[in-house]
Parts: sequence; structure tokens; C-alpha cells
Amino acid sequence: MNNELKVKEKNNKLFFIETWGCQMNEEDSEKLSGMLKKIGYERTEVKQDSDLIIFNTCCVRENAELKVYGNLGALKKLKDKKPDLIIAICGCMMQQEGMAKEIVKRFPFVDIIFGTHNAYKFPEYLNRVKQEQNSIIEIQNKEDGIVEGLPIDRKSDVKAFVTIMYGCNNFCTYCIVPFVRGRERSRKPEDIENEIKDLISKGYKEITLLGQNVNSYGKDLEPKVSFANLLRRINEIEGLERIKFMTPHPKDFTQDVLDAIAECENVCEQVHLPVQSGSSRILKKMNRHYTKEQYLDLVRRIRETIPDVAITTDIIVGFPGETEEDFEETLSLAREVQYDSAFTFIYSRRKGTPADEMEEQIAEDVKHERFNRLVEIINASSAKNNKKYEGRIEEILVEDFSKNDDTKLTGRTRTGKLVNFPGSKDSIGKLVKVKIVKANSFSLIGEEI
Ligand code: SAH
Ligand code: SF4
Ligand code: F3S
Repeated sequence: MNNELKVKEKNNKLFFIETWGCQMNEEDSEKLSGMLKKIGYERTEVKQDSDLIIFNTCCVRENAELKVYGNLGALKKLKDKKPDLIIAICGCMMQQEGMAKEIVKRFPFVDIIFGTHNAYKFPEYLNRVKQEQNSIIEIQNKEDGIVEGLPIDRKSDVKAFVTIMYGCNNFCTYCIVPFVRGRERSRKPEDIENEIKDLISKGYKEITLLGQNVNSYGKDLEPKVSFANLLRRINEIEGLERIKFMTPHPKDFTQDVLDAIAECENVCEQVHLPVQSGSSRILKKMNRHYTKEQYLDLVRRIRETIPDVAITTDIIVGFPGETEEDFEETLSLAREVQYDSAFTFIYSRRKGTPADEMEEQIAEDVKHERFNRLVEIINASSAKNNKKYEGRIEEILVEDFSKNDDTKLTGRTRTGKLVNFPGSKDSIGKLVKVKIVKANSFSLIGEEI
């Protein structure tokens, strides 16, 4: 029996998958991987060994696209050597108008191209590719209903992402996401709860609820369910230790959501609150629907309601028309909020978005200079906030061995701070108490107690 199994495993085809972009894409890749395993493929981390290569792409900034082009170009040699190799490309970048054609023209050796709305049909495309001469191009512009129950091969055994809604209705003027991910669609609370219960039965301790704007969860459901109520329902699920979520939009952050976070003991003290700019004038041009003052007031209420909360953000520098004065508003906001960390981005023009058509695009050198000034302020507040942890005893969810040192374990606090400390394999997947002995700029060092 054992021998038979071994032979079977050896004959299994191997797939390699590379994912760019956000957690939405990560989750899609976990589903692709889950489906492939169901039909007998095994995963490999070595491109050269694989029978199938999948690139799951992102197009939120130009850089993301350039990486995909670079990596695709490099596959030509491999395909020449291994003509049976199947190359598939999918994800947000493929949903852009004309992109699939462009890919086929520039990289004719690509076998399958599909988009974000029909990823669940991938096994069908794989079957077809063996019979068809030409590349398969299957891009859907309209989203199907939500497809439940796909197998999912998760990266971690400890923490998991659970998508609660797909798409985005906000159309921030710089952003391509609503064009490539479609309109907001919420999953039914029962489906979300069942997925979480299943995860708990497999030993998962932490879940992160995912959506482009989780605060507008459930508005499209019948009957409507608010995000605050979803948090309360999930908090009741036996055996779950930590609930996190991203991303809430500041314009929809109601007091009810704040109260739910404070009330629910499993919801962690961590809020990712993308600000994008500190200038009310620029925020208006971005179509964000809040002012600097409203954002700062929300931060004040969050800090009042959730003691010791960690606040993180996303900021774009160099949006069209951003003056030195506008940018200084961003700096002053960052100084005032004292973020725990921030993803800082240089504005990138995206075809089809309103901001791409705006005059007064900012010169690259100005964008870079502003970017560096902002990063300095963010790093200073990160380091200062981390320093506060020295001497504290924190609950850490242990995720794995540390990447650079296999005598150390790595995990996170409830507030999302990365902590490394000496320990053994037995602690992986568990919550342990750790004393923080030293704070670095981007992580903490601790000792298990
Ligand atoms: N839905 C989430 C995140 C969307 S994309 C939200 O609204 O917060 C992640 C981040 O990418 C955004 O928050 C924004 O800061 C950044 N981003 C989006 N489009 C961009 C562009 N054209 N140029 C630079 N950064 C961009
Ligand atoms: Fe993009 Fe704005 Fe939607 Fe976030 S809320 S995905 S930034 S359009
Ligand atoms: Fe995410 Fe990039 Fe798509 S940020 S939604 S993978 S465009």
C-alpha cells in the first residue's frame, strides 16, 4: 500500500505558483493551489522542476506589472527546453482592457490566460489546453455570484485569511482595484462562520477578515448584516483566539464598529486605517469622502475606545496636484497620529482611472524626495511605539521558526508586532507569554516566560 502510494506521488505533476499583490491574490492562489491538489498536482518551489507555472498578477502600481513582465520574459528559455510545460497567467492585471492580447503578442508561449472572476474554472482550462492549439484566453468582465466551497490549500497552519466580501464600490480616483475586481459582493454570514469553524477544527487560532472596505460588509445582503454584527457573531465562535480585519475605509467607520471591537474580547487591538493623504484638498481629489480633521477625530476616538491600540496606514505621495503645502499636511498628520507602521507608496499612473487624466502630474524626483521625508517620520514613530513594549509581557501567537535563525521562534502580538524569541518546535501554533527584552525598529526580541 505504502509503495503504491509512493509511486503515485512520484507520478504526480508538479506546479509552481508565484503571487504578487495583496491578500486577495494570496487567497486566490491558495484556492488555485487547493483545486490543483484535488486533481492530483503537487506543489513545488522550484520553477525548473514544474510541469505547470502560474503567475497570479497585480496591477495596483506600475512596478507590480513590470515585475510580471520581467518574470514572464525569463520563462521563454525554460519553455524552449520543456515544450510540455504549461504556463498560465491570471489575476488583476489580466482584467485590464487589452492586456490579454498584449500578453499573447509579447509572450506567445503563454498557454492559459484568465481573470479574477473565473479563477474557479481553472481546472477546466487545464483540461482544454491539452487539446487546443492556441492559447486559451478566458477573461470575464462581469463577476459571477460568489462560488462557495472551493478547496483551499493555505500557506499557514496557524493563521488564515477569510474573505468576507469581494470587489469595491469606492472608485478612489487613483485606484484600479474596482475596475479589476468588480463591485462589492458580501458572503453570507453563515458561510463565513462555517469556514471559520472548519479552520478552528484544524487548529487555526487567528483569522483575518478580508475585504477592500470591510465597513460596508453586508449592505448587499438580504437581510442586511452590518460589519459590527458580523464581528460580534464571529466573536461567539468557540475556540477562536484572535480576530483581525482589513481594510476598513475611514469614511464608513461607525461608532458601532468601534464599540464592537472594544466589546469583543477576541477582536485584536490593531486597526489598519489607510489615510492616503493628510491634505483635505487632495483627499477630495482622491474621492475619499473625509477630511484631515475627520480622520484625526476618528483616530482620537479609536485610541479612546481601544487602549493600547496599534494604528497602521497606507499613504500615497505625489498624487496629481500635490503641492509642498499639501505634502506638509501629510507630514503633520503622520507626526500627530504616530503610526505603528505604514505602507508608503509613490503615486503610480493607472490607465482608465480619473487621476491618470488629471493635469499637474508630479515630477518623479519630487515624488521620491517627498517619499523619503515621509518614510523618516514613519520610521521614527514605529521605533518609538516599539520601544514602549520593552519590559512588557505579551501574548504571542507562534507562527514558525524565524527565517534567519532556526533556534528562534517568530510570532506576533495581538497588535501585530513581530516578535522573535528562543524556543522549541512545540510552541508553534500556540499562544505563549513572552517578555519583551529589546525593541528594534521593525521587530521585538523576547524571552518566553
Ligand atoms: N482597499 C484598500 C487597499 C487597496 S490597494 C484600501 O482602500 O485601503 C492598497 C493600497 O495601494 C492603497 O491603500 C493605496 O495606498 C495604494 N494604491 C492604490 N492605487 C495606487 C496608485 N495608483 N499609486 C500608488 N499607490 C496606490
Ligand atoms: Fe481602491 Fe479606494 Fe477601493 Fe481601496 S477603497 S480598493 S483604494 S478604490
Ligand atoms: Fe490586490 Fe493588486 Fe488586485 S493590490 S486587488 S492584487 S490589483
